[in-house]
Amino acid sequence: MDGKTVLVTGGTGGIGKETARGLAARGARVILVGRDPVRAQRAADELSAGGGRVEALAADVTRQRDLARLAAQVAERCDRLDVLINNVGTNPPRRILTEDGVEATFAAHVLTPFTLTRLLLPLLGGRVVNITGGIPGGPIELDNLQAERRYLGWTFSQYNHTKTMLMAMSLRFAEQEQVAGSGVTINVAYPGHGHTPMNQSMTTAGFPYVYRPIVPLLRAVTPRIFGDLSKPSRSSVYLASSDDVEGVTGTYFGRKCRRVPWPASALDRRNQDAIWTLCEALTRETV
Ligand SMILES: NC(=O)c1ccc[n+]([C@@H]2O[C@H](COP(=O)([O-])OP(=O)(O)OC[C@H]3O[C@@H](n4cnc5c(N)ncnc54)[C@H](OP(=O)(O)O)[C@@H]3O)[C@@H](O)[C@H]2O)c1
Repeated sequence: MDGKTVLVTGGTGGIGKETARGLAARGARVILVGRDPVRAQRAADELSAGGGRVEALAADVTRQRDLARLAAQVAERCDRLDVLINNVGTNPPRRILTEDGVEATFAAHVLTPFTLTRLLLPLLGGRVVNITGGIPGGPIELDNLQAERRYLGWTFSQYNHTKTMLMAMSLRFAEQEQVAGSGVTINVAYPGHGHTPMNQSMTTAGFPYVYRPIVPLLRAVTPRIFGDLSKPSRSSVYLASSDDVEGVTGTYFGRKCRRVPWPASALDRRNQDAIWTLCEALTRETV
């Protein structure tokens, strides 16, 4: 990765920070993004102390105005961006709205990667890696894209729902005229489980009803089994850096860095179109 520049959203902690560490260790210049400037700089300093070239930028990437400012700051710092990793995730226990009035998980998982990728396309010369998560692959509810009808159910969660939507949006993005054939590739990585700040802060009320009885068990075993965050960062590091995937686009990779089939709901054209249309409508003033 010598001579390459990578932007990682949510690089101050959890899987994003380990991804930043892994790419810096491979020689990349890494720009990490977090909401708090002090925390972001501290993470960059820590990773730089390990021998990497890591810089920090502060933005709340669920806010459209922050995304526009972030894209301008990135353009000031570099002529070309080789890799964009849309890593930020969120899982509030109930439906909340961002300052733009967008449902928060839809904003973080779908609208942010859509907006940031579009804003950075003029700079992008390489790869976009979008991070899915949870248990993606269920149906996409077209009357419930922003959890207008339900946020949690017996097995339904808007977290999983929006991660499936991210996959549909990524597929559609990879086919866009200004992307297809431009040398920019767009793929989705599934990291696998990690004992991260997001998981640690999840309350029982944030789980679909059917999982709630086993939450104490999950809390007991998760730190032991999933404490090593280098494992869930493997698939994003691989998609960002490996020669094996040079030119590969519109593909979904599992936690073992192997190609896995897309869920049927992500392949469904009606779902892709509905999500794309909503993202365009919500970002009319930004991109
Ligand atoms: N952990 C898992 O088991 C797991 C499994 C599968 C998939 N995933 C996915 O992997 C990705 C990373 O998850 P994680 O568990 O590592 O998350 P995490 O522990 O919550 O880390 C999130 C990172 O994102 C930053 N962040 C959060 N909201 C932000 C915002 N609005 N704007 C800018 N930065 C923000 C945080 O930094 P600040 O607090 O400094 O802003 C932190 O650096 C997510 O997409 C998640 O859905 C996670």
